Amino acid sequence: MLINNWYVLGLSEQVKDEPVGVHALGQDFVLFRDNDGKAHCLSDTCVHRGGSLCRGKVIGGAVECPYHGWRYSGDGACVEIPSLGPDAKIPRRARVDSYPTEERYGWIWAFLGDLPEDERPPLPEFFPEHDMEQGEWKFVRGEMEFDCNWVRAIENGVDRTHAIWVHTDFGNPEHRIPKPFQVEDDGVSLYCRGKSKPVNKRGVWRDEIPDDRDERENAVRIFIPAPSIRIEMYMQPPKSMFIVTGYTPIDEHRTRLIFTHARNFLTDDKYDADTLNRMFTVLNEDKIILDRLKPQRVPPLLSDELLLDSDRHGVMFRQKVKEREAQGDAIDQSAMQGEDEYARVIPSPARRADPKNWVLRPVIMRKSVDKHDA
Ligand code: FES
Ligand SMILES: [Fe+2]
Repeated sequence: MLINNWYVLGLSEQVKDEPVGVHALGQDFVLFRDNDGKAHCLSDTCVHRGGSLCRGKVIGGAVECPYHGWRYSGDGACVEIPSLGPDAKIPRRARVDSYPTEERYGWIWAFLGDLPEDERPPLPEFFPEHDMEQGEWKFVRGEMEFDCNWVRAIENGVDRTHAIWVHTDFGNPEHRIPKPFQVEDDGVSLYCRGKSKPVNKRGVWRDEIPDDRDERENAVRIFIPAPSIRIEMYMQPPKSMFIVTGYTPIDEHRTRLIFTHARNFLTDDKYDADTLNRMFTVLNEDKIILDRLKPQRVPPLLSDELLLDSDRHGVMFRQKVKEREAQGDAIDQSAMQGEDEYARVIPSPARRADPKNWVLRPVIMRKSVDKHDA
């Protein structure tokens, strides 16, 4: 699992006036909103004696620990220690790690890492204006968990040959050999454009899709420093849809997927339930496969599986992850296995700027990676 990435930690609508706990990258976080409604993400562990902040309350725009009432503001600083009285000086070490947070596309993103602002990658632009100028757009959102490593889940999201085997409603058995495709690497994303049958003609979508649909274009982009995928599908111009999915490792063996589905056809509210139903049908079909993949993580060597050229998009992503691991961005989960005396945290930008005066220890990072045949 990589630090120094943007991760989707939840849907905006899930964080209201109570703190919300999220497990990601093997760590616990708390999301809450301040008095202006701005979302914040802090390490969940109170530095007093380990209370879980997400079990507390939001009071005056700060999150209050349920154990002895210490309050932390959005920047992670402790602003009140009730047992010391109102005029007491708050110790400098009374702070928790706070992670840069952005809300976009109906999602709450947090940058889990310690890079200063000018070194952080930008968030992906999922809905650029030129794609959204045709008609009115309707969005639906949801989430799903898979029992597999996040890299496995992303590889599945761009797999061009699984649809006819896994998905009952799309994928054309006459096109089991994928058409040639190119993958462009622009440094922060891997972009693949091709042609395929975009969606099924079942139910209320039947009249939205032309009969020559095999010739429709689609494009799939994986964003690397904000693990997510954007799928564009052009139906009958100007009818299109975009599916964007954020992938967040819960731990090494579980992945949370959050999706937004955007469509510019059948935009009445009454079609939302049908759209969600289609998304969950597809995701449940993927889940049946992903929950039982072996190994749950991607094996260390490419030669540990028998990969084909049609797997190239996912394999290129796999190699990008290996590069980031080699740069020292990977958490060493096995080095912390069985540790029950320390609560560790992913280092935040404030910790890098001022490395002393923190109570909790940082997670252990992998110094070097397995050799691989990239
Ligand atoms: S453990 Fe949080 S206030 Fe004591
Ligand atoms: Fe799938």
